[in-house]
Amino acid sequence: MDLAPASPTTQEKTLTVLGLESSCDETAAAILRRAPDGSQEILADLVLGQNDAHAPFGGVVPEIAARAHVEAIDGLVVEALKAAKLTLDDIDGFAATAGPGLVGGVMAALMTAKALALGTGKPLIAVNHLEGHALSPRLSEDVAFPYLLLLVSGGHTQLLIAEDVGVYHRLGSTIDDAAGEAFDKTAKVMGLGFPGGPALEKFAQTGDVERFALPTPLRGRPGCDFSFAGLKTAARQVWDKLDNPSDQDRADLSAGVQSAIAKSLAQRSGRAMDMFVERYPNVAEPRPFLVAGGVAANKAVRSALSDAATARGFTMTAPPMKWCTDNAAMIALAGMEHLVRGQTDDLDAAARPRWPLDAQSAKMNPAIGAGRKGPKA
Ligand code: KG4
Ligand code: ZN
Repeated sequence: MDLAPASPTTQEKTLTVLGLESSCDETAAAILRRAPDGSQEILADLVLGQNDAHAPFGGVVPEIAARAHVEAIDGLVVEALKAAKLTLDDIDGFAATAGPGLVGGVMAALMTAKALALGTGKPLIAVNHLEGHALSPRLSEDVAFPYLLLLVSGGHTQLLIAEDVGVYHRLGSTIDDAAGEAFDKTAKVMGLGFPGGPALEKFAQTGDVERFALPTPLRGRPGCDFSFAGLKTAARQVWDKLDNPSDQDRADLSAGVQSAIAKSLAQRSGRAMDMFVERYPNVAEPRPFLVAGGVAANKAVRSALSDAATARGFTMTAPPMKWCTDNAAMIALAGMEHLVRGQTDDLDAAARPRWPLDAQSAKMNPAIGAGRKGPKA
């Protein structure tokens, strides 16, 4: 599969990178090849989900996830090489997510990449999962830096400007739950099934959005941080007051929750667009607004974001769903970008549960979970 060309670098020969991902509940392996002229191709792109293993618990269980990654990852590497018709000797670098994420899971990909790097004598690239998402639009779109990105998944909700490879300016982030978590946890309260987000969207289709009007989080507040914990509690309180709730009650509450989340994402993204224009007044319209992460699958969210973008001279684009959600192609791409710049890692690179993409703004903004363990996202 041919991809959008990369920005020119000083790369002298064709390079092939194997990328591995296991930071949440997807085990993934991909192989990316890039020629010196910047043309690139995905030679393998495999993802194994674990929904069945977690469904009985209504959410991702870290220990179950870690075990499933360990059991799957070796076989997936073999499958990826087979799909690409390559052997380990053809790989020039091994890239793996090294965080942030569920650390037991992160270790599966990272240790595998370390072992492969050690065994072949080729470099290891320890990739920040968020950088993978931040660069993922460049797998499918010929999108130039700088661009505004909303990353909205089960683990992360943040707005950042991707200024260059390795240069990310974070504008806002969630101060508590991620948007996907709000979808999932509210769906769990209502017993809609797992994964909750898509189930809630389905119920919302037949719901009355006006019946349980819920507050839009942080409405009118300065900046573009997010908060979803209050909304989750408000929805639970509405639910607890319902006597013997029916499917119509479920649908109505789903519609209310979905609308509040969509409005909040659109309002905060609108503020981020204004900040982008202030920082980059010379970027011509339509300015690029990219959306990645599983929540980007939600039609109400997409439509609210698209309206906010159009109103401000931006165009909203989302990568194809397979690269919006967790995948290894984006990890291979981030790994490739660092490899061609000579940025590789030692074999003692640590698995990191927390690893903000923009360390500077994390330090400057104590609202973003400035606990002992540092910022969450
Ligand atoms: O990016 P992703 O696959 O995994 C990570 O969290 O990294 O995102 C999964 C999240 C889950 O919270 C899921 O419920 C949510 O995306 N999601 C949705 C929809 N599809 C997936 N939320 C709302 N509506 C959807 N259609
Ligand atoms: Zn992710």
